[in-house]
Amino acid sequence: MLIALLPGDGIGPEVVEQAVRVLNVVTDKLTYESAPVGGAAYKAQGHPLPAATLDLAKRADAILFGAVGDPDCDKLERHLRPEQAILGLRKELALFANLRPAKLFPELADASALRPEVATQIDMVIVRELNGDVYFGEKGMRTTASGLREGYDIMSYDEAEVRRIARVGFETAQARGGKLCSVDKANVLETSQLWRDVVIEMSADFPDVELSHMYVDNCAMQLVRNPGQFDVIVTGNLFGDILSDQASMCAGSIGMLPSASLDDQQKGLYEPIHGSAPDIAGQGKANPLATILSAAMMLRYSLGLPDEADRIEAAVAKALAGGARSPDLGGTMTTAQMGDAVLAAL
Ligand code: IPM
Ligand code: MG
Repeated sequence: MLIALLPGDGIGPEVVEQAVRVLNVVTDKLTYESAPVGGAAYKAQGHPLPAATLDLAKRADAILFGAVGDPDCDKLERHLRPEQAILGLRKELALFANLRPAKLFPELADASALRPEVATQIDMVIVRELNGDVYFGEKGMRTTASGLREGYDIMSYDEAEVRRIARVGFETAQARGGKLCSVDKANVLETSQLWRDVVIEMSADFPDVELSHMYVDNCAMQLVRNPGQFDVIVTGNLFGDILSDQASMCAGSIGMLPSASLDDQQKGLYEPIHGSAPDIAGQGKANPLATILSAAMMLRYSLGLPDEADRIEAAVAKALAGGARSPDLGGTMTTAQMGDAVLAAL
């Protein structure tokens, strides 16, 4: 099976390298092809998502992605910025369902920003919609009647978009603890009112799932106060972006959270939820575990290799139990040493 490796910018290449080392130990069924993406692709080829990179992503059975984002590129026109690469891949490949599991490894209870007895309760999946919302609405800069500069971004969801992500939310809850919390801002936004109405309509098809609704501001607060109450959260693109970063710190470190972005055929792009971290790039300080765990999700969801996925996840837990700690986890191990620790555990 062909894996597209898109390491990208900043710490992306370092963490993807470690994930490939781990994959090579658990399976010989994969072949790899790499392509530039993000700021690296802009610098080499003049576009953050070159046609050949997009073509590779389409041909591959799954995509392992590092990160995009490069301060050198912040002043470029928006369509040339590194972030457009990941947004373009999500849209072009119709990867609308983003699964972001947040679970605390017990060994990391001290690394959480929360008290250990609160943090150890965390075991949730955030199901984030990825193809719509304010991310993809009409946007621009204009001048108001009184001559002021004005930026605008239109937020919208149609009911079909809500239905297909809500279905993933309900099904994810069915396969786990049976609880789904739909997060919106229906007290203020029409987009959210439609979201809530559609989720309620769909709940009739999932009588075995206990559905609740929460405003996003309250959810941000509850994630810190009592994160153990959540099983599955389903939410829109922008709210999911913010809440998943927050959940990651509650679960120890942003360096630990993997993600899967799936289309309706289980084809997927797998990436750590952290970004390119340009401040530590190239120094061996990045934690590769989120990418290694993303590789495990790839084996499970897109490649039909669940036993190999289990082996990787168990090896990560064992490495942590054995004391493997990168700087984000309060330790001093390098990116490669963290990879070594997982390999040793395998
Ligand atoms: C994420 C990132 C992206 C997003 C950026 C890099 C465009 O923050 O995957 O969470 O906002 O979706
Ligand atoms: Mg984000």
